[in-house]
Amino acid sequence: MLKNFWYAVEFSAAVTGSPTPVKLMGENYVLYRGEDGQVVAMRDRCIHRGASLAGGWVEGNCIRCPYHGWRYEADGTCVHIPADQAGTPIPKRARIDSFPIEERYGLVWLFVGDLPAEQRPPIPALPEYGDPAWRMITGEYTWNAHYTRVVESGLDSSHAPFVHSVFFNLRDDAEVPPYEVQMEDWSATARTISKPPKRAGLLKLIVKRDRPFSSATLTAHMPNINRIHLDFNFRGYQYIYFASNIPVDENTTLTKWIGLRNFLPQAWADWNSRKNTNDTYLEDKAVIESQVPRVVPLTGEILLASDSLQLAYRKLIRQCVERGWAVGSDYGIPSVSVSTNGNGKAPIEVSVG
Ligand code: FES
Ligand SMILES: [Fe+2]
Repeated sequence: MLKNFWYAVEFSAAVTGSPTPVKLMGENYVLYRGEDGQVVAMRDRCIHRGASLAGGWVEGNCIRCPYHGWRYEADGTCVHIPADQAGTPIPKRARIDSFPIEERYGLVWLFVGDLPAEQRPPIPALPEYGDPAWRMITGEYTWNAHYTRVVESGLDSSHAPFVHSVFFNLRDDAEVPPYEVQMEDWSATARTISKPPKRAGLLKLIVKRDRPFSSATLTAHMPNINRIHLDFNFRGYQYIYFASNIPVDENTTLTKWIGLRNFLPQAWADWNSRKNTNDTYLEDKAVIESQVPRVVPLTGEILLASDSLQLAYRKLIRQCVERGWAVGSDYGIPSVSVSTNGNGKAPIEVSVG
């Protein structure tokens, strides 16, 4: 897991005047919205005797611990200890860490790390958000898996005929045409072409099946965001899936996703759109939760030309590990296991650039 990034940890609408607990990279945080409308993030542990502040309540822009009523300002400073005699000074150490927050795209982004503001990798762009041409739905789901395996499944163009066979039904035609990977400082993107889905729920009623191809532009934004931009090659119909795959801990990922479509803008079509996303999740979950090792290794495995985008993602992870941004045990200790393909040949190296 990697520090020094903005993590979208909750939908803005879920953060209110009632404290909300969130867990990120094994640490507990509490979020709340003060009366000034600003979201506050603090470590969810009272400095007095360790109670969770998420069980407390908000007063103005402050939060009150539910155990003995200590009151904390938005910057984490304790400003009231009810059990003290009036006039007793508050100990200097009576403060809790608070963390930078941004709200964007209806999501609350929490920064955990030690980089000053101007050096932080930016929150990725989502220009379609808020554009009236795009109808939005949101959702969430949980994986018993490391987030890197989840991100990689969203970069993977060769699994669809197998994992999503109901949708694609193309197992005997599973070749992935060569594609280019574009790498930027904090992202890797590729546009892949595929045969159109045979069954696409509602879409099958409105999209002709004789199209030569549809395309998917797949992006990994470091370290945990998938953007999947599908172009159905029919009347400009497109669907964008933008997902924050939150590393809750080393074996749990909570995905908060936004789905945007520029066709069928009516509310009645939301159900179908959400069902397609959830069905796809359940199919992916079955294989992703079976993968060993749990964390994507930075060496080993056999990556082929069709895996070039995953290779690029691993390259970006490695760069972050080399910067010293790894936290926890997954990349804190470099992996030393290297597998071969069993016939003595080295894994095929694919260059990206
Ligand atoms: S544990 Fe929070 S006030 Fe005592
Ligand atoms: Fe998938």
